[in-house]
Amino acid sequence: MTLLEVKHISHWFGGLQALKDVSFQTQDEILGLIGPNGAGKTTLFNVISGFITPTKGEVIYEGQRIHHLRPYQTVRLGMARTFQIVKPFATLTVEENVLTGLGMPYYPTSKALVQRYKTAPNLEKVEEILTTTHLKEYREFPAAKLPIGLQRRLEIARALATQPKLLLLDEPAAGLVSQEATELSDLILALFHQGIQIIVIEHNMRFAMNLCQRIVVLNQGELIAHGTPSEVQNNEKVINAYLGQE
Ligand SMILES: Nc1ncnc2c1ncn2[C@@H]1O[C@H](COP(=O)(O)OP(=O)(O)O)[C@@H](O)[C@H]1O
Ligand SMILES: [Mg+2]
Repeated sequence: MTLLEVKHISHWFGGLQALKDVSFQTQDEILGLIGPNGAGKTTLFNVISGFITPTKGEVIYEGQRIHHLRPYQTVRLGMARTFQIVKPFATLTVEENVLTGLGMPYYPTSKALVQRYKTAPNLEKVEEILTTTHLKEYREFPAAKLPIGLQRRLEIARALATQPKLLLLDEPAAGLVSQEATELSDLILALFHQGIQIIVIEHNMRFAMNLCQRIVVLNQGELIAHGTPSEVQNNEKVINAYLGQE
């Protein structure tokens, strides 16, 4: 079954139409979502993950209509996302940040989180995720003190703690140097091979081309192309809208 289906999604912010009748389905793949700044990529993630209820259209996840659900509900269904602007709990350590993703029912304060939920079985789960994301050596670091590359990986680690089937990554490579971007690609591929479907927003065309099996291109809110990297790369609309700007 198709995990995610976006059907005829349109969204207006006041008089500005940020998404125009966008439709696509995921297959078992790493799907790239690319397009120039302001194309509507983040808005589409906000719609899929329940941060925004779209003005029109439907989002279907595992056969269920979900576009009226809130973010905490989409997480429970197995969808996790990261943000273009990283949002770690700044005063918590790397380990504690990942712990928050485990989905405990109630976090009265961050201190209570540390005291109540740092149990051996929980820490074991966190350790596994820190190993996968190569963050183990930073476990005791306050999240805010990490360089941006590691903060981006921490976002992914916290998302993984919710045990997603679908992971939405919003410009995970932004601000990374080329070595870091390569390591990130390797991590995303490893997660895919563990059975997690991935949609990755990327501004850097080359990064997306090397990583993704299929690519959806948005421009000014409209889906202008959908296909393999080479199909998309040779699409005239894409060349005009996007590649021309590089
Ligand atoms: N909360 C909002 N209120 C008003 N306009 C918004 C809001 N969020 C995004 N927009 C506008 O919607 C368009 C798409 O934005 P966005 O989805 O962030 O694009 P992208 O992620 O592709 O760069 C832009 O014109 C942006 O200014
Ligand atoms: Mg964006």
